[in-house]
Amino acid sequence: MLPTLSQRISQLQPSPTVALNTKAKELADQGHKIINFSVGEPDFPTPEPIVKAAIKALEAGKTRYGGAGGGLPLRKAICEKLLKENELTYTPEQIVVGIGAKEILFHLSLALLNPGDEVLIPAPYWVSYTEHVIAAGGTPIVIPMPADHKAPRLTKEMIAPYLTAKTKAIVITSPSNPGGYVIPPNEVKALGDYLADKNIWILSDEIYEYMSFDGPSISMATLCPAVRDRFILINGFSKGFAMTGWRVGYMAGPKPVADLVRTLQTQSSTCLPPFVEEGALEALRHGRQLMADKMVILQERRDLAVSILKKFPELDMLPPNGAFYIFIDLRKVLAKSALYTNDNSLDFSKKLLETYHVAMVPGEAFGAPGFIRLSYAVHEDTLKEGLSRLGDALVAIGGIRN
Ligand SMILES: Cc1ncc(COP(=O)(O)O)c(C=O)c1O
Repeated sequence: MLPTLSQRISQLQPSPTVALNTKAKELADQGHKIINFSVGEPDFPTPEPIVKAAIKALEAGKTRYGGAGGGLPLRKAICEKLLKENELTYTPEQIVVGIGAKEILFHLSLALLNPGDEVLIPAPYWVSYTEHVIAAGGTPIVIPMPADHKAPRLTKEMIAPYLTAKTKAIVITSPSNPGGYVIPPNEVKALGDYLADKNIWILSDEIYEYMSFDGPSISMATLCPAVRDRFILINGFSKGFAMTGWRVGYMAGPKPVADLVRTLQTQSSTCLPPFVEEGALEALRHGRQLMADKMVILQERRDLAVSILKKFPELDMLPPNGAFYIFIDLRKVLAKSALYTNDNSLDFSKKLLETYHVAMVPGEAFGAPGFIRLSYAVHEDTLKEGLSRLGDALVAIGGIRN
């Protein structure tokens, strides 16, 4: 018999998005033409100046350990970005750069939580938040989606019933994954006003900041300075600069939090590879302008996907105005089918992959059964073909008319 494993870590679910992606790749290797709408990354290559800066750094011998929490030039550049683009003043010691926003968020859970502390996570949520909290010994408390998802998505009325003496933090994601929506500035401000006198950490995941199509996505800290002393901003380079494989993300927040997150990094991944830092620095030298044409392409794809989906009046969706996702409400359609119940998008997504060779992540992964997430960061032809197959699958299960 083997010695036992960690009870706490054994509770964790493997990332369902990564699992689906793996299954899709397996089917592709068997020769099937798979349309993959499950990936959380833009299909654009990393811009050339960024790649060149990293190559130059490699050739210049920047191949040794770097500074924990990110080198000073990169942390200074992040402060400049936050000031210029977000009107937020931070000093370099308030910034920690890590191996993706995922590592930063994981370390934040470890740094902030004591056993039994509760973290409020509004659904639909990004798959890793709950697991990070569990790994850190805390308790994720999911705030369910409002029944009518066209109503405001997160209000004080929705949060209030879940606030307890054990509440330690709340996670807010805008633009959202998987929701694909941006919380409008007046709602962000109202939330900030409400949270300003609550003694909890506010974790604001702004990784899709540049992908906000019907008006800018504005940080709660910008709109509501009263939250600043308990506000932790999380951002990264993966989405906005098409740098998912580079693994660069950061936090900006109160110095004691930054110090602890940096300490954790010194005891885990140590530092960011210095040549990767040079690539990130180059991205910041150009700023969001570098990707402006790509954001227009994403918006066009969003419009194309919406126009195709609207042809099925039975389908509903959250307002898709950010990130590169559409969170499709299949509940009415599934309810009509004799094969599924309205809260079983998991089985439908398996059928969609195995029979129609389209990979889409079911809402169950995000705390919203009955939904399915479309990632439209793919070529237009792929989008058309995949959505046509989705239509075939929905007709075949008896959920929509032909
Ligand atoms: C909402 C959200 N936050 C954070 C991340 C992590 O990004 P990365 O670790 O690539 O910086 C992702 C990636 O999919 C995400 O969707």
